[in-house]
Amino acid sequence: MAGPQRARRGSELSELGIIKDGAVAIRDGVIQWAGPTDQLPDKNAPDFDANGKVVLPGFVDSHTHAVFARTRADEFECRIQGTPYIDILARGGGILSSVKAVREASKLRVQFADRFLEFGTTTIEAKSGYGLNLHTEIRMLESMRLAFQLEVVPTYLGAHAVPPEFRDNRAAFVDQVIEDMKAIGARRLAEFCDVFVEPGVFTPDEGRRIFAAARSLGMGIKVHADEFQSSGGAALAVEVGATSADHLGAITEADISRIAASDVLATLLPATLFVLGEGRYAPARKLIESGAAVALATDFNPGTSPTLNMQFVLSLACTQMKMTPAEAIVAATMNGACAVRREQRVGSIEPGKQADIAIYDLSDYREIPYFAAVNFCVATFKKGELVWSRHPYEPNY
Ligand code: NIG
Ligand code: FE
Repeated sequence: MAGPQRARRGSELSELGIIKDGAVAIRDGVIQWAGPTDQLPDKNAPDFDANGKVVLPGFVDSHTHAVFARTRADEFECRIQGTPYIDILARGGGILSSVKAVREASKLRVQFADRFLEFGTTTIEAKSGYGLNLHTEIRMLESMRLAFQLEVVPTYLGAHAVPPEFRDNRAAFVDQVIEDMKAIGARRLAEFCDVFVEPGVFTPDEGRRIFAAARSLGMGIKVHADEFQSSGGAALAVEVGATSADHLGAITEADISRIAASDVLATLLPATLFVLGEGRYAPARKLIESGAAVALATDFNPGTSPTLNMQFVLSLACTQMKMTPAEAIVAATMNGACAVRREQRVGSIEPGKQADIAIYDLSDYREIPYFAAVNFCVATFKKGELVWSRHPYEPNY
C-alpha cells in the first residue's frame, strides 16, 4: 500500500501494491526498506521468516468503545426476543447500563488490549462515553493511556446518551458536555470529539454546538451518523469538516453524494448490524462508486458489537456489502490510519512508517476475508517489536 499518505477513494481502494516474495527491513521500530527479497540491500539471515505467508500492515481499527466494565449479555437476549436496541436505551438500559457499570467500577481499562494484537490490529481508536460526567469521562480517557503495546487514539464521546440526572434538561446536559470538553482539551486527553447523532439520542443542532466547541479546542471530529435512521448526521459531518462519519447504515442518496464530494471518511461498521441482526448494511458499493473514501472498523463495544476481530469485519464487508478483498484491506489499514489522523505514521508498509505489521498463515490475501471468523494471524509486530506470536509457532526469531 505504499503511495500517497492520504485516504484512498474509488478505484484507488483496490490498489494493494503487492510485493511477491518480499522483504522488510526495520531499524529502531521504523521501516527502512520494503521490496522484493532479491533486491534487499543487507542480506543477513532474516530475524523473522515469513516465507509463504501474507504480510500486511497492522489493522487500524478506527472506531471502538473498548473501555467498559461489563458485558451486556442480558440485553443481547432481550434483543433476540424482539426488543429493539433503541427502545432498550429509551428505557434506561443499553448505553445507560454500561454507564452505570463504568461509574461503579473501581478500575477501568481497554478491554482485551492484548487480544487486538492477536488478531492483527496494532492501533485502535477508543471512545469515552460511558461516564457522561467529567470525573468518569476523564477516568475512561486516562485508562486508554495504560494499554501497553496496543496504540490507542482517545476520543471524547461525552454526548453518547443523556444520563438519567439530566433526563428533563437536555440543554443543560449539552452545556455540560461543552464545559467538560474544555477541561479535557486543556489536559490533552482526547484527540477527537464524537457525538451520537440519531433520533432519540442527539439532534444535529446539538451536535453542531458541541462540534463548534471541539473545533475551537483543536480536536478532530467524528460523528455517529445515520446508524439506524437518517437524521442528517452525515450532512452534519460534511458541514463541520469531520474527519469521519461513522455507521451510515441509513444514509440517504443525497448524503452519499455529499460525503463522496468531501474529505470526510465514510467509516463502515458491518459487525454492528450483523450482531443486531438487522439484515441490512451500509451502501458500501454506492459510496465507493460515488468516490467516497471508505474505512472499516469493528465498533467493538459491549452492546452492539462484541467483536474485536477485524478479519471478521473484512469477511462481512465482502460478503454483505460486496466490497472486494482488496478494497476491504485498504479500508482497514491505510484509510483507518487516515480516520485517526495517523496516515503519516501507520497504515502501510513503506520506508519511514512505524513497523506495525501482521503476518497471516495464508498464501493469498483474499483468504483473510474468505475464512470467516477464523484467526489466521500468527505474528504481530508493533514498532518493530514482536508483540504476539501463535504458540507453538516458533519462527527464527
Ligand atoms: O456505535 N451507537 C452508539 N454507540 C455504539 C453502541 C454503544 C453501546 O450500545 O454501548 C455504537 O453502536
Ligand atoms: Fe460506535
